[in-house]
Amino acid sequence: MKCRVCGRKAAVEVRRQGQAFCPEHYLEWFEHQVERAIRRHRMLRKSDRVLVAVSGGKDSIALWEVLRRLGYATTGLHLQLGIGGYSQRALEATRRYAGERGLPLIVVDLREAYRLSIPELAELTRRRTCSVCGLTKRYVINRVAVEEGFDAVATGHNLDDEASVLLGNVLHWQTDALVRQGPVLPAKEKLAKRVKPLYLLTEREILAYTLLRRLPYQHEECPFSVGAKSLLYKEALNRIEAQSPGTKQAFLEQYLKRIEPVLQAGLPAGEVALKACERCGYPTTGEVCAFCKTWDQAYRWARKKRILPGESVFAPEPALRFAPERPN
Ligand code: AMP
Ligand code: FES
Ligand code: ZN
Ligand code: ZN
Repeated sequence: MKCRVCGRKAAVEVRRQGQAFCPEHYLEWFEHQVERAIRRHRMLRKSDRVLVAVSGGKDSIALWEVLRRLGYATTGLHLQLGIGGYSQRALEATRRYAGERGLPLIVVDLREAYRLSIPELAELTRRRTCSVCGLTKRYVINRVAVEEGFDAVATGHNLDDEASVLLGNVLHWQTDALVRQGPVLPAKEKLAKRVKPLYLLTEREILAYTLLRRLPYQHEECPFSVGAKSLLYKEALNRIEAQSPGTKQAFLEQYLKRIEPVLQAGLPAGEVALKACERCGYPTTGEVCAFCKTWDQAYRWARKKRILPGESVFAPEPALRFAPERPN
């Protein structure tokens, strides 16, 4: 196959679009796709200070690289979850990427900030690790963005992630979740704007970009992702995609273009009202937010089991400052 731009031997095929590229023109194509998504959905302005949530995996590292190349003022934020060697190697990859490019990186270690790791939190609350991990990540990332005055948070969610979440929400008709699936979630009181600039690029395409740019990244999957429903949905979509290229993209894009607006319009009085959490002041639909409830419950058990001293009380304010390791 030949590169569609220069006619030289192609190195990467983008099957869903029936195109192929040589390394140089693939990198150009990839970065242009991200730029176009940002422009089309007005995700970011050139003057914005962007907080990039970086797990150390290929998606968020590729995202940081593209945003940097497009000229955005970026700071990375990595949450140290305390999942043994997996988390350790994720932090190493993130630090290596940031260090090589002299980019500012904020690292929040949950054990230092809140005294428990994600596996401890899951065990103490007897909840699924991914579920308490997801809610803690969302909360802490938002809190850092709000407290440090960033204009937006960018995450590395890709087409496979977004299409599999959509499939899961459709299979269970989760209408509340369906209306929150867009690539841009606007800012509200104490809620930072959230954007997903890679939402139309597949895992495979992002991997090709990461390899061609020789970016360091964490290769391992989280040990708790084994058996997750999202992986089943990704596999199912990949099987359909293999027979019918372009289906994944059409599924997500057509949903966002045609169905999501109808669902939004049908909601009573716009949407559910958000209130300030009684404990931490951050937005919630109830009296106390899910983060405060979960961590409070974990502290209660941690005191009973003497994992934390008897006088320990959960405080939503973290025990550390959110300062970058390498300010620019
Ligand atoms: P996941 O939910 O693990 O698929 O991750 C989705 C996105 O959330 C990633 O692309 C990152 O932008 C962000 N993210 C995940 N884990 C972390 C972490 N430990 N620290 C900072 N951001 C993260
Ligand atoms: Fe959170 Fe795996 S990254 S449980
Ligand atoms: Zn070419
Ligand atoms: Zn709260």
